[in-house]
Amino acid sequence: MKILGINGSPRLGGNTDTLLDQSLKAAKDRGWDAEKIILNQMDIIPPQEKEYYEVNEEGLSPIEDDMHIIYQKVKECDAIIVASPVFFGSLSAQTKIMIDRFQCVWVSKYLLDKDIFTKKIAGGFICVSAAHRKDFFQNAKSIVRNLFKVIKAKYTGELFCHGLEEKEDAHKHPDFLDSAYELGKKITSKKP
Ligand SMILES: Cc1cc2nc3c(=O)[nH]c(=O)nc-3n(C[C@H](O)[C@H](O)[C@H](O)COP(=O)(O)O)c2cc1C
Repeated sequence: MKILGINGSPRLGGNTDTLLDQSLKAAKDRGWDAEKIILNQMDIIPPQEKEYYEVNEEGLSPIEDDMHIIYQKVKECDAIIVASPVFFGSLSAQTKIMIDRFQCVWVSKYLLDKDIFTKKIAGGFICVSAAHRKDFFQNAKSIVRNLFKVIKAKYTGELFCHGLEEKEDAHKHPDFLDSAYELGKKITSKKP
């Protein structure tokens, strides 16, 4: 069984990264293969005009960039965790651009009657912020839920951590670290 962690923060070793690692550790402890991808290190451009109506022969984006690595990994995994910091009241740009690039799945389904992601998987969401604003987490969550619908991931668990501002802050919160571990356990223990 494989779990894919997607880190949408530009800060390596920061709060998002630390909590995502905890969740992936729980998956590994249960015998799962865990892989993490760092969106900020990938070559992914925002949607372009052709994405409104065009897909390639696989029904995926006609833009040739690292999104194709992500499509493949999402197809192969049994569970996914999307992790993002709150930026300006919602997801980071890195995370949102990646999600927008799943538009090809919508085009395939509604314009070409072709289902691209057919396997049911489990999905989790980690979100961190400096301020305590529930609405910011809810903004981010509604977008992630849209993604999960498109890739057939069941929204199985979430972790929202506020009061994290400096890079190392997550390490000062054993409760958050424990919750991240629990999230990883939960996502890998239920059949989607
Ligand atoms: C561009 C930018 C925008 C941000 N916007 C918000 C915000 O709207 N609300 C908030 O509470 N924190 C905001 N923050 C703070 C981050 O969410 C916070 O520092 C978080 O812990 C960063 O997580 P990371 O260490 O994983 O990158 C922002 C930070 C940056 C760099």
